Amino acid sequence: MRKVVLAYSGGLDTSCIVSWLTQRSYDVVCFMADLGQGLGEGEDIQAIEERAYAAGASKVYIKDLQDEFVEDFILPALKAGAIYEGKYLLATALGRPLIAKYLVEIAHKEKAQAIAHGCTGKGNDQVRLEVTAGILDPKLEIIAPVRTWEFKSREEEIEYAQTHDIPIEVTKKKPYSIDRNIWGISIESGVLENLEQEPPEDAYLITKTPGGASTYPKYIEVSFEKGVPKKIDGKAYKLKTLIQHLNEVGGLYGVGRSDLVENRLVGIKSREIYEAPAATILHTAHKELESLVLDRELAHFKEIIALKYSELVYYGLWYSPLKEALDGFVQSTQRHVSGSIKLKLFKGNCVAVSRKSAHSLYKKELSTYGKEDKFDQKLAEGFIRIWGMPYR
Ligand code: ARG
Repeated sequence: MRKVVLAYSGGLDTSCIVSWLTQRSYDVVCFMADLGQGLGEGEDIQAIEERAYAAGASKVYIKDLQDEFVEDFILPALKAGAIYEGKYLLATALGRPLIAKYLVEIAHKEKAQAIAHGCTGKGNDQVRLEVTAGILDPKLEIIAPVRTWEFKSREEEIEYAQTHDIPIEVTKKKPYSIDRNIWGISIESGVLENLEQEPPEDAYLITKTPGGASTYPKYIEVSFEKGVPKKIDGKAYKLKTLIQHLNEVGGLYGVGRSDLVENRLVGIKSREIYEAPAATILHTAHKELESLVLDRELAHFKEIIALKYSELVYYGLWYSPLKEALDGFVQSTQRHVSGSIKLKLFKGNCVAVSRKSAHSLYKKELSTYGKEDKFDQKLAEGFIRIWGMPYR
């Protein structure tokens, strides 16, 4: 009997896949990663596990990978300043290589020949999972039933689940397709496919309506050590808890929403909205601190790297040689990224209002227009003559 490890979400698609593969004589092992998607919030984990067994799984792995996710995936992307197309903070994209890593690991442990997922043939996630698995073990076979199976609609899947005794909750069709983890939420489909329509408020899950969020602003200070966020308002947090805390606070002030038409890997343009309060706060603070401590040339060059880094993450090339090399570069830029940034959160905005660092390159005696001025203005004349000489 051939064995397959399936990336299981507990939803209708992947539950049908378990049964569908079992019927095709596969021994199906399910794997579910907890990346902070709120497992156990709506439905308890036990019910999800039972559903997998009822659908025919021979074994179910559920792993809490949140610490590894924040330390090894989110943190490097934060240091790199990785933001796709100026707006997407890459929550979904960063989670996929980690899921693929464990699919491969479990496949080896279980001596499985294949891995499977429930992605459609139109999205980025299929690419990310398969490319990553291919890098880590090119011999593993990959099965993507949703791309080929006979079901044409959700109703057909529900009917299939019912006839095969898979205990699914037959709720009304959810209005959106949602992917969530600790770094953010991606929301698409339904009315969002109409580009002329503003996203309805009910599409957002963790951020308050920015306009009504609060009458008063909230000030919050984030402290970094070598590019790593360590404290909020002087209090030390573990990275995971720090992010959870910022998601709550940011969400209350409507911070971290974005709405974009993005370029997918498969060439399609798609409209997706995102909520990422903690990621927005941390990227803003980190960038502000860098503008204090990095010299001009390094700061400008790092922006080019950030652009490339975001593409590599989006394209599923996390485990590529270029990404590894860029991590080396980024790490060396973080040596002096220590200090504190105070931000003002107000009606969806997040802006820096106060900055300090022991490594600050800002010298008031040089920039001031007051009488403490130490800058010798006479030197400017010679500098400009030589700088502009080629053009004159
Ligand atoms: N467009 C995002 C990406 O490619 C998110 C994809 C998943 N989105 C979703 N709503 N299920 O990373």
